Amino acid sequence: MSADTKTKDPLQFLDEAMAGLKAEGLYRRLRVLHGEQRAEARFDGRDVVNLSSNNYLGLTTHPKLRDAALKAVKDLGVGSGSVRTIAGTMELHMELERRIAAFKKTEASVVFQSGFAANAGTVAAILGKDDLILSDELNHASIIDGARLSRAAIRVFPHRDVAALARLLEETADVKRRLVITDGVFSMDGDIAPMPQIAALAREHGAIMMVDDAHASGVLGKAGRGTVDHFSIHGQVDIQVGTLSKAIGVLGGYVCGSKTLIEYLYHRARPFLFSTSHPPAVAAACLAAFDVLESEPERIQKLWSNTDRFKKGLARIGFNTGTSETPITPIMVGEADLAMKFSDRAFERGVFAQGIGFPTVAKGTARLRTIVTATHTEEELDRALSILEDVGRSLGIVR
Ligand SMILES: Cc1ncc(COP(=O)(O)O)c(C=O)c1O
Repeated sequence: MSADTKTKDPLQFLDEAMAGLKAEGLYRRLRVLHGEQRAEARFDGRDVVNLSSNNYLGLTTHPKLRDAALKAVKDLGVGSGSVRTIAGTMELHMELERRIAAFKKTEASVVFQSGFAANAGTVAAILGKDDLILSDELNHASIIDGARLSRAAIRVFPHRDVAALARLLEETADVKRRLVITDGVFSMDGDIAPMPQIAALAREHGAIMMVDDAHASGVLGKAGRGTVDHFSIHGQVDIQVGTLSKAIGVLGGYVCGSKTLIEYLYHRARPFLFSTSHPPAVAAACLAAFDVLESEPERIQKLWSNTDRFKKGLARIGFNTGTSETPITPIMVGEADLAMKFSDRAFERGVFAQGIGFPTVAKGTARLRTIVTATHTEEELDRALSILEDVGRSLGIVR
């Protein structure tokens, strides 16, 4: 081996990859939040209307969640000390799982460290190399990673295209075990999956039906029970995933379904088996969040009235907001560098709306992603609209 080869940095290719990102306008610095995650917050030293968090209901700073977490720290310490299957199952973890199952009206539930782990861990655990996954083209990365880990074959159907899914199910009738999987609310477009039709097709063809309700949890359905409740299709979806990291305001993910499914995941879902469980403060805060969902329904009402006000404002200005039906409202821009410029200029003027480009969304469909929350005031939303309008016009995104 030459001296030159030995001294060369083996990670040098990463410098080239980063230079490529910069050339495409996709290089991002992490914005740093000073203080609490709120509707108006301070990022990178600037006070901004925050349209970038998933804190739909403002629960990240809710006093009941804060108190529950503090009490858990005082009573139980800061860590669980083990994975769930060895010594890390605390009473609080079991209580949270019972609470979530009752809330979602399913037999049982299991909590994972994140929504990502819940999706990836579940898909990889229940399917194997002889199986087939039928997946919406805009499904979340955690579903795609779980599908790859499972080694099952993957067929992607066009976004929300029920007829294409029906054709795929017919074509693949000889495969013994099939999973139909979709996001309930799509994270970058804010549209809702046609769940009743998809679930009916899965049932008709004997396939397993799974939904990722990360952005429907706390947002859609009675008290935020998700898409199954929103469409009144209880009992027709075999596996429901939700997150505790977005509207619930804390951290984690869960899977709801039959007792057998949950017991199986206790034995086979690798993130559950091989990664330490939540600290007690996390479980306690999540439990308090489910109390708040049921005792403060006005939060969800405010989320939707704010969403309505903001969407109407964007439409009045003339922005293209795609197919959104929920508080996730993209402002479509097209090229990534223009979307990033829009985001940066809006930030300088006092609005934080993250620019999103490839690989999170397809090339040529870069956008600003906005999410209003229940805790934004009307004044904040109107101010944000006026800044977005000014900047959008100066960049020629609206005329
Ligand atoms: C659709 C969807 N599923 C799953 C997840 C993962 O959830 P978590 O942040 O709890 O890992 C996210 C969050 O980014 C998401 O948007």
